[in-house]
Amino acid sequence: MKAINCDACVMTVVIFGASGDLTRRKLIPALYNNFKKKRLPIGLRIVGFARRDWSDDQFREQLRSGVKDADPAFEVPVWNDFIQNIRYVQGDMTNPGDYRKLDAALADMEQEPTDRLYYLATAPEFYGPACEHLSAAGMTAETRARRRIIIEKPFGRDLDSARELNRQVHAVFAEHQVYRIDHYLGKETAQNILFLRFANTFFEPVWNRRYVANVQITVAESVDVEKRGGYYDKAGVLRDMFQNHLMQLLALVAMEPPASLDADAIRNEKAKVLATIRPIALDDTVRGQYQGYRASEGVVPNSKTPTFAAIKLFIDNWRWKGVPFYLRSGKAMPAKSSAIIVEFQPPPDVIFNLGGSQKFTPNFLSICIQPDEGIHLRFETKVPDTVADSRSVNMSYSYLEAFPDIVLPDAYERLLLDALKGDASLFTRNDGIEAAWRLIDPILSGWESSPQAPPLHAYPRNSWGPAAADKLLARNGHAWRIGCCGLPCD
Ligand code: BG6
Repeated sequence: MKAINCDACVMTVVIFGASGDLTRRKLIPALYNNFKKKRLPIGLRIVGFARRDWSDDQFREQLRSGVKDADPAFEVPVWNDFIQNIRYVQGDMTNPGDYRKLDAALADMEQEPTDRLYYLATAPEFYGPACEHLSAAGMTAETRARRRIIIEKPFGRDLDSARELNRQVHAVFAEHQVYRIDHYLGKETAQNILFLRFANTFFEPVWNRRYVANVQITVAESVDVEKRGGYYDKAGVLRDMFQNHLMQLLALVAMEPPASLDADAIRNEKAKVLATIRPIALDDTVRGQYQGYRASEGVVPNSKTPTFAAIKLFIDNWRWKGVPFYLRSGKAMPAKSSAIIVEFQPPPDVIFNLGGSQKFTPNFLSICIQPDEGIHLRFETKVPDTVADSRSVNMSYSYLEAFPDIVLPDAYERLLLDALKGDASLFTRNDGIEAAWRLIDPILSGWESSPQAPPLHAYPRNSWGPAAADKLLARNGHAWRIGCCGLPCD
């Protein structure tokens, strides 16, 4: 899909669920920042649609606090310009008549054929019905202008429901109109993975089974479920983090080079690599729940929902055959740290005469997704003024040091801009979503009912999860690494 020149377009963004938290905290600040950077199409109109009985001004007032929270350098004149094109239409998403009312209000504002981007910032049960109602109101056909839709995660709660949702969406929208958002793909560091791999000569020649001993992807969160217990208890960590964010990071690390940066070229390779992952054995999974989780608001008292998981998987293709990929994510851990570690095979150390059990630290590359965004290479060096002592040290690239003047944008800023331009390369496609569910689904059902299911371990808050997660790697002689991401390097 070619990006269009938005400067020449008049467009409308319609946000469904406009009174919600996502709109206030993420979507409007992202649009505001793009406006401030003069990146929005001239004449872009933003229309909020929700049940609250608000005027345009009341809606704008709600939004203002979200932008002020997100932007310490909030500028009143910029804000005043920005809100000129913000409007509000009151309506109920479950009422087909209200879509016709919305369409009439939009037609009134637009006056000429205008591209529209619908954003479903609502609870997931509304995604399917909203598509149907939009179509029934004649709001999806691209006869005179473009119609696109952004759908938030979670996209389904298992393979069947994801397929059913894809069916409902495709009954109304063609795939090129659909933008399934995964905010991890909008993070600068995630976008940089393809640059690291394919804009350099160093890394790709060793990025395979001959040189890589294992790959680790950690997305650790220090926060617990906070006030989201009601949602989280029905989702759990596999649905909340693995099916989407971790699988997408894995695909970026493991995929073959795409033929171009075209959205479909990238998404073909991602879908291909996800499809070559071997079904994951229950014995290669670990699940945990932090102590005290069951007392959280919205969580059932005897909940078995995991808040931590670790899995080992293999990619059965030419490049990766036999290399373990370890994925883990959890809440209430000691630090917020999202990192990808590529650990290399040990060198043949014959000339160094290492004594006894002494070993070199393996070389590894850490890609710090957040915080302390950066890339570090761990390697062995001789300790000065010794005969033959060695120690591992880092060669480091820190975003902050290399680009001190650039504030890393929030993921939504880039993703919304791309969707406005019609560039879907950072959005997931139906086949990628289904491939990820195909891997996660058997774990979910196995954990629920299989006699081979691993126990649900309780782990203390502020810990790296159950000891079983360490044993999972130790079985292959490996250990989890942090790699300077969010914690000191040593
Ligand atoms: C969301 C999950 O998708 O990602 C949350 O629903 C999680 O549970 C969040 O906290 C993590 O995102 P980030 O950008 O803070 O790492």
